[in-house]
Amino acid sequence: MSNIAIAIDGPSGAGKSTLARMVARHFGFIYVDTGALYRTVGLYALRRGADTKDAAAVGALLPEISVEMRYDGEGVQRMYLNGEDVSELIRTPEVSMAASNVSALPAVRAFLLDTQRDMAKKYSVVMDGRDIGTVVLPEAKVKIFLTASSRERARRRWLELREKGVETDFDEVLRDMELRDKNDSQRDIAPLKPAGDAVTLDTTEHDLQGSFELIRALIEERM
Ligand code: DC
Repeated sequence: MSNIAIAIDGPSGAGKSTLARMVARHFGFIYVDTGALYRTVGLYALRRGADTKDAAAVGALLPEISVEMRYDGEGVQRMYLNGEDVSELIRTPEVSMAASNVSALPAVRAFLLDTQRDMAKKYSVVMDGRDIGTVVLPEAKVKIFLTASSRERARRRWLELREKGVETDFDEVLRDMELRDKNDSQRDIAPLKPAGDAVTLDTTEHDLQGSFELIRALIEERM
């Protein structure tokens, strides 16, 4: 049987990664977090002191970067930057903003495209990101656009950071999120928007299990 691809797009904090992970586990697919790729490039640019919005500066660094996705014994995705495991280092608010900036650069998107498509060639995947249904995997069997109010998304992100021991101010998280939303949806290339054939799911009022059941039913119907 050929591989199946499920695309889950949407703004940060909508529940994409948690739900994508649940769906992947349920169907025995591989979960691919594509934001981690942009974060890894963002981290490298920060380390090299580059302006992360500067296309020429970031573009010049790309030949020095090897971004690799590996899976540990439990099937958890780990990110490697030139052989170094940066899976935890890419989760800071500073790297989030750098990732959003570098992701608006066409050269960076082109640089990461094959890595994403190769995963879908090799495995059945649940892939989450911003442009999976529109650009990366336009042939995906099921496309879901997950969203929620910006306050609710900021609240979730703030809790997630706190659980990881990163103490931040809620208003700062909300401000960062709104700025990133604006960056991600107003950029010229691969902006965040639902694919024409995506099913939009607003998770503001749904709990995790409720959202999961909706997605599971949708996938079963299509398979
Ligand atoms: O999903 P995330 O928050 O880890 O993503 C980090 C940034 O990367 C986000 O601000 C937008 C960008 N991104 C993107 O442009 N395209 C994707 N497929 C995934 C993420």
